[in-house]
Amino acid sequence: MRRPIIAGNWKMNKTVPEAVRLAKQIKLLVEEDARERVEVVLCPPFTALHAVGEVLQDSAVKLGAQNVHDQPKGAYTGEVSVPMLKDLGCEYVILGHSERRAYFGETDEMVNRKAKAALSRDLGVIICVGETLHEKREGRTEEVVRTQVRGALAGLEPARPEQLVIAYEPVWAIGTGENATGSEANDVIAMIRRLVGELLGADTAEAVRIQYGGSVKPENIKSFLTQSDIDGALVGGASLEAASFAEIVKG
Ligand code: PGA
Repeated sequence: MRRPIIAGNWKMNKTVPEAVRLAKQIKLLVEEDARERVEVVLCPPFTALHAVGEVLQDSAVKLGAQNVHDQPKGAYTGEVSVPMLKDLGCEYVILGHSERRAYFGETDEMVNRKAKAALSRDLGVIICVGETLHEKREGRTEEVVRTQVRGALAGLEPARPEQLVIAYEPVWAIGTGENATGSEANDVIAMIRRLVGELLGADTAEAVRIQYGGSVKPENIKSFLTQSDIDGALVGGASLEAASFAEIVKG
């Protein structure tokens, strides 16, 4: 059985004191769930990773980052490496979020290099894929998502398949209040799982967690978690408030 995974992507929000406060509140509310039922990951901005990591030290709630460079060190001004994230206690990193693809030119090939760098150093990845509204209207969802998944997973050999998480996030649903329906998302996610099977084998496909992301809220989380292939959620806006994030974790 796959353990569901709920991750909060705080994006470029929260100063260090604000992040510490939010992490403490979330920890109080979801500690038991995180120990028993569901993997919970908080992904604050780089600046707050250390402080939030300290809050989560004796907690089952895990720490994640929102991006990473593929090289372990060197002359890459402004970048942060996998060993640096591991050093802070990160267990996951979000890769290829649609905002990084749209605003920072991130490609499938870059996502692939980052995924290899992370997994080879025992850092879990949450790889984001999803179609734009335009692509959806043209009926190209499957083609676009397949290309992204193929690109991201090329040559990947995850030693621990549970460290490979894919987030299906239709771009038109991110931060818009407009979400895919549970069954729409499940269809795409089941397709992704079949593709993972073709690429990495049936056992890996069974073990890989695939989340839905895009305007997940306490009011709609059940419609996703009750689907056969959806293993959790990547939550943006609703993860910035402890009560709403905790409700989502509790399903
Ligand atoms: P949202 O963001 O929940 O605010 O739509 C999701 C995401 O970007 O991961």
